[in-house]
Amino acid sequence: MSRAAVLCGLGGALPATAVSNEELAARLDTSDQWIRTRTGIRQRHVVAPGEATSDLAVAAGADALASARRTDGNAAADVDLVVLATSTPDRPCPATAPDVAHRLGLKTVPAFDVAAVCTGFVYALATASSMITAGVSERALVIGADTFSTILDPGDRTTRAIFGDGAGAVVLRAGEAAEPGALLGFDLGSDGSGADLITVRAGGSRQRSAAEAPDASDHFFTMDGRPVFTQAVLNMSRSSQALLDRVGWPPAEVDKVVAHQANIRILHAVGEQLGLEDKQIVANLDRVGNTVAASIPLALRDAADDGELLPGHRVLLTGFGGGLTWGSAALVWPELHTG
Ligand code: COA
Repeated sequence: MSRAAVLCGLGGALPATAVSNEELAARLDTSDQWIRTRTGIRQRHVVAPGEATSDLAVAAGADALASARRTDGNAAADVDLVVLATSTPDRPCPATAPDVAHRLGLKTVPAFDVAAVCTGFVYALATASSMITAGVSERALVIGADTFSTILDPGDRTTRAIFGDGAGAVVLRAGEAAEPGALLGFDLGSDGSGADLITVRAGGSRQRSAAEAPDASDHFFTMDGRPVFTQAVLNMSRSSQALLDRVGWPPAEVDKVVAHQANIRILHAVGEQLGLEDKQIVANLDRVGNTVAASIPLALRDAADDGELLPGHRVLLTGFGGGLTWGSAALVWPELHTG
């Protein structure tokens, strides 16, 4: 029997404030109609002044730990690893994960951040899963949390329409590959030649070592939408197909594809590339927008709560983001207690 990481808890958290398309249109040159038809998004949640990524990560982490306790009876204290995917850490240094672990009462467990923008959750999942299979960890909390509203240009109608804040989390335990919930494989990749397509120019060593101070606008997130759209479709489709070939699942036999929630047209295009039917594709971006590293676990939580994701379902996760980075994971959905 082979040792594997098994998903046993799922949680999420959103900031209290939801901003509708109409509210955005009152402040920017955009419309509900444009945003809905070009992206599929109706609203997004944003943090309150002073609220940070760690606050959402702690809430989502606590939710996932409670779900794991209801699922297999093990206490939060059994967690021996925290991996946090984020590109909006509370501060540039230190990492946000140790603070999150401390506030969750997890004492002195190893805790670190993973930065792969919208692919962050899949990278973090692969990292924690590998540490479990290597025997370094027995039970891991994996969180994806981002607050992109804090780095957007207030006047940029494109990014403000798309991005929202949130956090999602899962608990992984050591188990066996034949069990439902076992992570069956990963496909990961990157292409640094596209680093400028999704970026925050200022704030890092390149700009800090420069002779001249950066423009204020260099601290804002920028994205070149059209090439990002094309690269997202290409790489999520290729990565999904590569993993499905390895796991031996034809696309038609996948019950649910939970892809990074960036744009409904991207989800449909990936579905078309893989020959999927609409009912196989999970979408919650109408309610939350693109929540970056939180996107996939929040979509999992919503699909589980809505009864769309059922025990025994073959599930494919696939993400794409800045870097450029991409990644996919496969599992059979386990019996879980959420909510
Ligand atoms: N409201 C109204 N008009 C808008 C708008 C908004 N919120 N955002 C952009 N536009 C305008 C543009 O200014 C442009 O106007 P122009 O033709 O006068 O120059 C027009 O709409 C078309 O812009 P374009 O960028 O071609 O639109 P699009 O159909 O490609 O949609 C995105 C833009 C950003 C929604 C789309 O490219 C996208 O989803 N890209 C991928 C985003 C993504 O996945 N990001 C995260 C990856 S991790």
